[in-house]
Amino acid sequence: MATDTVEDFAPAKINLSLHVTGQRADGYHLLDSLVVFADVGDRITVRADDRLSLQIAGPQAAELPVQDDNLVLRAARVMGMTAAITLDKQLPVASGIGGGSADAAATLRALARLGQKPLPADRDVLALGADVPVCLHGRAVRMQGVGEVLTPVPPLPEAWLVLVNPRVAVATPEVFQGMTYKANAPMPEVPRLPSVTALAAFLHAMRNDMEASALALAPVIGAVRLALRAQPGCLLARMSGSGATCFGVFGDGPTARTAAREITAAYPGWWVAPARMLS
Ligand code: C5P
Repeated sequence: MATDTVEDFAPAKINLSLHVTGQRADGYHLLDSLVVFADVGDRITVRADDRLSLQIAGPQAAELPVQDDNLVLRAARVMGMTAAITLDKQLPVASGIGGGSADAAATLRALARLGQKPLPADRDVLALGADVPVCLHGRAVRMQGVGEVLTPVPPLPEAWLVLVNPRVAVATPEVFQGMTYKANAPMPEVPRLPSVTALAAFLHAMRNDMEASALALAPVIGAVRLALRAQPGCLLARMSGSGATCFGVFGDGPTARTAAREITAAYPGWWVAPARMLS
């Protein structure tokens, strides 16, 4: 029986490292990033319909008015399909963990299944946004170019993350503009990392080159990093993407959940999510 409703998960995207290595003539920045995903995210449901529509529900829905240029609707137009689409918005918007790009990628996957159609050409996926190709890939990967060059990495060890967003939206273009130096060294090859401590040691040798600029725009990011670093068992705390979400790396689920509870108790206004790292 043909199904007329398809659901897909849009996991948070985390830049474990993010080196900015240059800038193209068109203004886009060249990146070198180790990207993973987390088992928290948005959910997309698509139902066959003769017109295209979008409803947004979920705890972060109020942050995201339904507008014609929503990435979910743009993704549906790239697929050339009409459907009634529901977005269950769990991730904070404009927060450096992929949100809109993850939603666009999940919409492409769901509509491809619904319509039994192929995914769009790579250039059309990239045109939706620089992070959409990596979100469509959906597994741990090294991301280069402006986001379109994806190279497999050896399997990563089991790890847990605590994601913390201070509920300050940060605009990606402004963070790029605020960077004073844009020709940083690329990241090293990702070796086989047998344990979470080996992963953390490897990450300590890298950076997020956008952190200083984001911190100047949203100084609370410094407090978020400190709150994570203060938690027992936090092996590394860093900002993801252009912020303001920061992540802590932990070795097991209970320790991550305890850290998340502590941070929520101390900062009730922040969005805090413990998650398993999907690699
Ligand atoms: O591609 P996307 O729409 O997600 O990017 C948002 C903005 O971030 C771009 O308009 C550009 O200003 C900036 N950007 C960049 N270099 C990248 C990705 C994004 O300069 N690699």
